[in-house]
Amino acid sequence: MKLTAILAISIALALTQARALDARQADAVDATETSNTSRYDAFHQPNDFERFPAPASTGGKAWQEAFSKAKDMVAQMTLEEKSGILLSHDGRCVGNTHGVDRLGIPDLCLMDGPTGVRPGSGISSFPAGQAAAATWDRDLIYQRSKAMGQEFFDKGVHIALAPVSAGPLGRSPLGGRNWEGSYPDAYANGVYSYESVRGMQDSHVAATIKHFIGYEQETSRNPYTVSSDGGQEPISSNVDDKTMHEVYLAPFAQAIRGGSAHVMCSYNKINGTNACGNAQALNGLLKGEINHQGAVISDWGGIHSSLDVLATEMSAPGTGFAGLFGDYYSDMPQLVNNGTVSEDRIDDACIRILTPYYWLGQDEEHVPPEVVFNANNYYEAEDTYKNVRKPDTAQLIHQIALESAVLLKNTGGLPLNNPERLAVVGALGDTANSECGATGTGCDYNTSLLTMGGGSGWSDAPYIVTPLDALKTRARDANFELSHALTYDEEVINDIAGRADSTLVWLNDWAEESADREDLTIGEEQSMMLEAAVHASSNVIIVMNSPVVDIEQYAEHPNVTAIVQAHYTGEAADAVVSALFGDENFSGKLPYTWGKRLEDWPNNTIVTTDDNNPQAYFDEGVFVDYKWFDKHEIEPRYEFGFGLSYTTFECSDIKIADNYKKDDMAIQDTAEPFEGFDGSNSLYDVIKTVTAIVTNTGDRKGSEVAQLYVTLPGEDMPVRELRGFEKIRDLDAGESREVSFDVTLKDLSTWDVQRQMWVVPQGDFVFHVGNSSRNLPLNATSSF
Ligand code: NOJ
Repeated sequence: MKLTAILAISIALALTQARALDARQADAVDATETSNTSRYDAFHQPNDFERFPAPASTGGKAWQEAFSKAKDMVAQMTLEEKSGILLSHDGRCVGNTHGVDRLGIPDLCLMDGPTGVRPGSGISSFPAGQAAAATWDRDLIYQRSKAMGQEFFDKGVHIALAPVSAGPLGRSPLGGRNWEGSYPDAYANGVYSYESVRGMQDSHVAATIKHFIGYEQETSRNPYTVSSDGGQEPISSNVDDKTMHEVYLAPFAQAIRGGSAHVMCSYNKINGTNACGNAQALNGLLKGEINHQGAVISDWGGIHSSLDVLATEMSAPGTGFAGLFGDYYSDMPQLVNNGTVSEDRIDDACIRILTPYYWLGQDEEHVPPEVVFNANNYYEAEDTYKNVRKPDTAQLIHQIALESAVLLKNTGGLPLNNPERLAVVGALGDTANSECGATGTGCDYNTSLLTMGGGSGWSDAPYIVTPLDALKTRARDANFELSHALTYDEEVINDIAGRADSTLVWLNDWAEESADREDLTIGEEQSMMLEAAVHASSNVIIVMNSPVVDIEQYAEHPNVTAIVQAHYTGEAADAVVSALFGDENFSGKLPYTWGKRLEDWPNNTIVTTDDNNPQAYFDEGVFVDYKWFDKHEIEPRYEFGFGLSYTTFECSDIKIADNYKKDDMAIQDTAEPFEGFDGSNSLYDVIKTVTAIVTNTGDRKGSEVAQLYVTLPGEDMPVRELRGFEKIRDLDAGESREVSFDVTLKDLSTWDVQRQMWVVPQGDFVFHVGNSSRNLPLNATSSF
């Protein structure tokens, strides 16, 4: 970006900030709602379009040529043509813009979602985002998204409605869509968002990071009529300014640095105003502070007025689904003609939608083929069928699924060494089928193998080899006896578990869009199966395809000799089997904290109420997930970043070096204000490098995730915060390797609410290296 542009943005930001500060002092805030309301002051004028007008796009440093092309095209369009680009309509995709034939611009195809191209046929079903996060491997995260992007492209999609960034981040373990996302930690989530965006767009498909912002619960996300006295408004996520910046905005900033074409605004309100009409969030934070140059696309039905065009560029599904969600923006020509909306705003909205289209070369070099599915009917006629799977993709998916499996406990149950008799009990039935994730039809969640959760993030998985299939093949080849009970029958379980060397108990738990989980319990039938197995056998191995569930009564049970969290694997549910038998090692780590009981997490993080104007106060502030457990000294069952292996590792020799390196990772630059900005430096410049040595001290090959945490100086700070991770692959027994973590200026900064900028706090910084958030044997102190 040119210096003048940087200065212009900085000045604009400074003015905006000064105005925001004045306004904060001037506005009296209603403090009656909770005793805590005042903490939300600094972020409380979300719908003031005078203070937060939509910034005109510039294309940013990466999209200059594409920006000029888009601008030229838009200059040739009529108002009706421009309005069509902003408005989605019915078509073969879940969202479809109106093209402009005479200028060679096609209808753009928008399609879900984060585990693959949603329509049913000829696609891969990828491990869920949370599973990919559990690999803690940047490259696998990137490759997953790239391979998925290729399938989107080959199916004719211009704009993928993926990946999920920090919405949901996962502040509650009950969140219905946590599995679609990644980590409830801003740093790790930022890495995931950045790599996923890059992967997708390296396949020439536009990414849409979602859902912006504060989208942490499904309950009451949409307006409904819940009582006789009127309709219920969407839940309002009330987030203070510091938390907004440090926890929720930071991952989106990384997605923008990765060059994300578009952003989807969320269903919830943010501090009282609908996210998709929220001037402060979309025009201030997103397009101003983190400098988003593409479009904001509404979530389906997230728009509640045509005037949301002042912040949100595309209305989806618009007239699609028979206008079910309100055909907002259909009246755009009239609103411009009567002076309600300026034509400049419409021009800029079109430019923001079209710039990434040109940047990705979708007009010339990388034109997606004709759309070969119908989102309204997944299994429609053969002419829509086209298998776009690539030979290497199945292998990649298998690898991700394998590395997403986290070994949580092992007192000798694993690996399964040449069993003579193996019993299998639980939710991994032949009933496993792809429709489980679709609409809730076609399977019994209690006993079926689950390969993912439900909702728009579902993808079809006709290629599932169930773990039971894989075990049968092994039993045949290695000639051991395999018996199974896939539903509760005490007698059968007693019998088969009683005589087996080992008993595998498979558990699942369902999570889906539109509904949060009610509690952490597993289904009743599974509970009974587990109980019966533990009663009958002294060598029970629990394997789960689930979010966090309550297995507390078994965690230390002597008859439970191993526990594995295998996550939602997509089509590769069998991948974990090779690790159970020890052909492969475990290397996954928990991408969230596994608490002992629901009460260990902050209270009331899923708000359920009949109130017509429901409010969620993010009172835990920045203390989300492990930061909450650490602050309140709550012992989790398994901590964030934890996972065992068949070998052991040690870290030694921590060193900190002052090591200035200019940021070379930003595809687009953000415009975040920070102390010490000199016109040419970046908040993402590297200022220190921390190194350590990782040694495999066991007797077999394995991979380890080295983790860097930092304790920042100051009061009421998190005990420690993740600031780096690196998967050290395939260390032989006895082998040592150096790991190195680059620490940026932002990594050592906090958001100063008064000064409205990132500031490095005064004092000593303590760096910790180890292999989980609570096993950090190496410590070293450094000042800034
Ligand atoms: C609603 C979901 O929240 C969003 O993630 C999805 O992309 C749209 N529906 C379109 O299916």
